[in-house]
Amino acid sequence: MVETSDEWITERTGIKERRIAAPEETAATMGAQAAKQALEAASLQATDIDTVICATTSSAYAFPSSACEIARLLGIERAMAFDVAAACAGFSYAYSVAHSLILSGQSSKVLIVGSDLLSRACDPTDRTTIILFGDGAGACILGASDTQGTIALHASADPFSGDLLSLPIPQRGAIETPWLYMKGNEVFKRAVVVLAELVTKTLEKGQMTAADLDYLVPHQANLRIIAATARKLHLDMAQVIVTLDKQGNTSAASVPLALDEGIRSGRIKRGDVLLLESFGGGFTWGSALVRY
Ligand code: UT7
Repeated sequence: MVETSDEWITERTGIKERRIAAPEETAATMGAQAAKQALEAASLQATDIDTVICATTSSAYAFPSSACEIARLLGIERAMAFDVAAACAGFSYAYSVAHSLILSGQSSKVLIVGSDLLSRACDPTDRTTIILFGDGAGACILGASDTQGTIALHASADPFSGDLLSLPIPQRGAIETPWLYMKGNEVFKRAVVVLAELVTKTLEKGQMTAADLDYLVPHQANLRIIAATARKLHLDMAQVIVTLDKQGNTSAASVPLALDEGIRSGRIKRGDVLLLESFGGGFTWGSALVRY
């Protein structure tokens, strides 16, 4: 499609394969599949869920939201349902909102889904983006617990750098469909600096050090960014969950997909301390220090 090579993509990004959604699939249909698997893993029924949050910036509809569609597809009646748009950091933002809803007593079982189809948003002739993004969805369910769960959270944004990574929404009557734009090397530099601060701050908030961590579960944009964050924490790469090689950058889906891989492969075990982190367009970033 574009002038590139497997060698360039592997060396500069760490990506070897990606998954592309079928034409009939949407953020909601993929999200519903992920949510079904999360319900099974949690031994819960769809009717146990009182809140559905979908982190996405590629919803097929502004409304009904992908969260409402997911609720419909799962047969969840009367739950609060809404989307969160924070690009690749969407899952971390959704986690923060879910946590607050549970703490306040407003919700008891919150389904959070990260689902994105950014492969469709990339210009097929732009080699700087078309090689990066894959489609996917991941989900988890949060509820109150005395023994496990959230230790510390952080979420923030820099609203003055939005032009470095943007995805315009097509306007009715417009002649051209606008594509995703990314000034990759600028985003790269900011991501490395911000993520180093973010992980340090989150551990401090949780009164922990990197030595307390069992696994880093990072956003999967670039293996060099992931490795830089691991180095900052003096973590061995064996303590980092990497799915980028098989999935590419799946935006809001990447952290829950990595979490799923870590748990289902048996690497992450009950009681492990995990640091989830993400960085994306906006710029937005967020983290969760969690005892699984
Ligand atoms: O998930 C949300 C946040 N996103 C990110 O965190 C992504 C951050 N950015 C990145 O991961 C990296 O910047 C990229 C993988 C996108 C690009 O890697 P880079 O090492 O920063 O490359 P670059 O943009 O500085 O480009 C270096 C060269 C350029 O050629 P010249 O000007 O040196 O001749 C590009 O034109 O690589 C060229 N290039 C390519 N060559 C082959 C750019 N894309 C490609 C390509 N194949 N696909």
